[in-house]
Amino acid sequence: MSNIQEGAYKKIVEICNTYKNEPTPLMPILSAIQNEFGYIPLDVQEIVSREIGLPVAEIYGVVTFYSFFSLKPKGKYVIGVCLGTACYVKGSQQIIDKFSELLHIKPGETTEDGLFTLSALRCIGACALAPAISINGKVYPKVTAPDVDKIVNEYKAMEANA
Ligand code: FES
Repeated sequence: MSNIQEGAYKKIVEICNTYKNEPTPLMPILSAIQNEFGYIPLDVQEIVSREIGLPVAEIYGVVTFYSFFSLKPKGKYVIGVCLGTACYVKGSQQIIDKFSELLHIKPGETTEDGLFTLSALRCIGACALAPAISINGKVYPKVTAPDVDKIVNEYKAMEANA
């Protein structure tokens, strides 16, 4: 709690109060916190634990089980590479490896400048476009390893001109 600013603390308590009387309050509370702050670190889970009377271990279990919850802040651009079957057979492992190599991060990590997060996804519903990736929800179809260079450079150039 020591790292949490008063405004954020109040917002977390307010979110807990909004849902605490629901039959299963944890998921809506965590979703609202994820949406509001972009991640749910341990000290925030401790506040939720106190507010709704659930053990931190249980909350931590839920946060780490679902990939849409995050313990750490995500980058400005979240690159999701689909490793579902259709994409995998069309070479998506090479695509994610290429992103890792260029950005110097492993899947699940964020670059030090806070720009990019790399994640491995299950099927994103674009199998006809395999191998597919998404960046902040925008789907890129039939991506090849040379495309990865281009995509990363485009985003870097966009940032440089921002
Ligand atoms: S397996 Fe990748 S979009 Fe379906």
